Amino acid sequence: MNNPDAMPIVVLVSGNGSNLQALIDARNAGVLPITIRAVISNESNAYALTRAHDAGVPTAVLSHRDFSERNAYDIELSKLIANYQPRLIVLAGFMRILSAELVNRFWGQMLNIHPALLPNFRGLHTHERALAVAVKEHGATVHFVSEELDSGAIIIQARVPILPGDTAAILASRVLSKEHLIYPLAVSWFAQGRLRLTKDHQVWLDDQLIPPQGIQYESLS
Ligand code: GRF
Repeated sequence: MNNPDAMPIVVLVSGNGSNLQALIDARNAGVLPITIRAVISNESNAYALTRAHDAGVPTAVLSHRDFSERNAYDIELSKLIANYQPRLIVLAGFMRILSAELVNRFWGQMLNIHPALLPNFRGLHTHERALAVAVKEHGATVHFVSEELDSGAIIIQARVPILPGDTAAILASRVLSKEHLIYPLAVSWFAQGRLRLTKDHQVWLDDQLIPPQGIQYESLS
């Protein structure tokens, strides 16, 4: 686990932390060269904090309720993140919209996972909305974080079918199982120095330009 080449990262969470767990498990399996310097939550009761604690990862809570303005919160959050000197910040169910200042401070070094096939269904309640408009397919997307919500350059997507009888909960769980595959994969590319975002918002994996809709997980052998 003490890999000297491991990339230092910070993970931001608000809830259950199953994506955090997927990263911890991949790290423990030796397939993800990261050191999680800290897990930061805006919610003191997030189960993700228990997962971090069980894995021996330092935690910090910065509650947004202690701040009257978004910018004031984000300034403190930005300082807190920077104290850990991460090379990558991973948003894993962090339920806050980030200010442009914070996003730009860590530009090209911040990833998010969104439970939909972006650019479809940005924002909240993606599974309910996908069922409401009766799309045939749904999924998850890993992307670089940009100033505009859920609009940053896409790295990878994974698809799931929508099946008869699906509820939002059933669909969410089908999507989550894919999230747990694509997030560790995208983070591993970054940690290996293989993934980068250029100033003109292009994403490169090694010497390959990733198309706007991202790499399709199903196309990987
Ligand atoms: C995931 O569906 C993720 O795509 C979204 O929030 C959820 C977090 O789940 N951003 P978990 O806390 O990782 O279990």
